[in-house]
Amino acid sequence: MRLLENPNPFKLVVFGSNVSGGCNLSTAPERIQATWEESVRIAQAAEAAGLDAMIPISRWVGFGGTSNHNDRAFETCTWAAGIAAVTKEISVFATVHVQSIHPVRMAKEAVTIDHISNGRFGLNVVAGYVPAEIEMFGQDLLERDARYAYAEEWMQIVRRIWTGESFDHEGVHFQLKGAYGNPLPIQQPAPMVMNAGNSPQGSAFSARFADINFINMHNLDVAPDQIAAVRAAARDAGRDKVLVMAPITVLMRDTQEEIDAYYHYLVYEHGDWECACNLGSALVENSTSIRDNKMVMERLVLAMNGYQVIGTPNEVADHIRQLAATGLDGVALSWPDYEDGIARYQRDLLPRLREAGLRV
Ligand SMILES: Cc1cc2nc3c(=O)[nH]c(=O)nc-3n(C[C@H](O)[C@H](O)[C@H](O)COP(=O)(O)O)c2cc1C
Repeated sequence: MRLLENPNPFKLVVFGSNVSGGCNLSTAPERIQATWEESVRIAQAAEAAGLDAMIPISRWVGFGGTSNHNDRAFETCTWAAGIAAVTKEISVFATVHVQSIHPVRMAKEAVTIDHISNGRFGLNVVAGYVPAEIEMFGQDLLERDARYAYAEEWMQIVRRIWTGESFDHEGVHFQLKGAYGNPLPIQQPAPMVMNAGNSPQGSAFSARFADINFINMHNLDVAPDQIAAVRAAARDAGRDKVLVMAPITVLMRDTQEEIDAYYHYLVYEHGDWECACNLGSALVENSTSIRDNKMVMERLVLAMNGYQVIGTPNEVADHIRQLAATGLDGVALSWPDYEDGIARYQRDLLPRLREAGLRV
């Protein structure tokens, strides 16, 4: 059953298995390599473990440093089509920069993957944040309001094509004659739509066009307010419910000694700090002092600046329970080593999450 309707009270999906390094900026040999065989193994293992979806990262150029993190990256629509063909139950998303693909083509590609997957496809829309990636397409990365205005026009066209209507469109960015698509999506009225964005503009976009707002969160205390803001934006847009999910990187080992040793190995022995500085400057305006901020640097290295959950199986299960208690509807998991992470999830975490009532 697709992610939106499946009975799991707290959704768990796999994030970033299509790009080298995933969400961990290191040169550790067990990090993800982004080969096709590995992508298939990870998706099939995730499905066997009962995880809800695969969500790729959209990346066109790496972040430099020794690892050149994410430099090797499968294009996500074709990746999703392939993953859909080798799985049966798990939902499969593509993550798409709106400025990288014409909306008429996007609508048809999405419908095609929806048919390949028999109604398990989701479109994760990203506005982008790395200027070089958008410049590759001969465009400038627009400033935030303009970026979302572009995304809105793009998404309106995609959604309208999914209705089967034939229409002309005279907009700011697109002028179309007789835009149309057949077949219709298997999922009616539309495939699942997710938007990855943190700003109020991102929440407003999600409220109007998406089923899920994918946000970044850094701390349990502010999460309820972040989530409330998304819910309020959804209400303002006349929508009952927009799910809110966030990426987390999990480092789980059986004992504190093993955790400390693996953390040190990942962050200090193999961590790519130069790459972390590059990523930091892409993410944070005025980031000159990032290198001196140990906490931020470690978070960049370990989790690509995302939320980290570190501990023994009991501690990780408890932490996930606390995340669920903030009002989050689910999290997108990544690990320093995906195949090991999924095996440990199935063996050590799933029984505890079932006991906590978070998974069926
Ligand atoms: C959870 C999450 C996942 C994201 N994934 C990607 C991605 O795969 N590729 C990308 O270029 N940007 C990604 N982004 C960044 C968005 O493109 C960026 O946030 C966008 O410009 C929206 O701006 P906003 O966060 O200010 O709303 C992601 C953002 C979030 C919050």
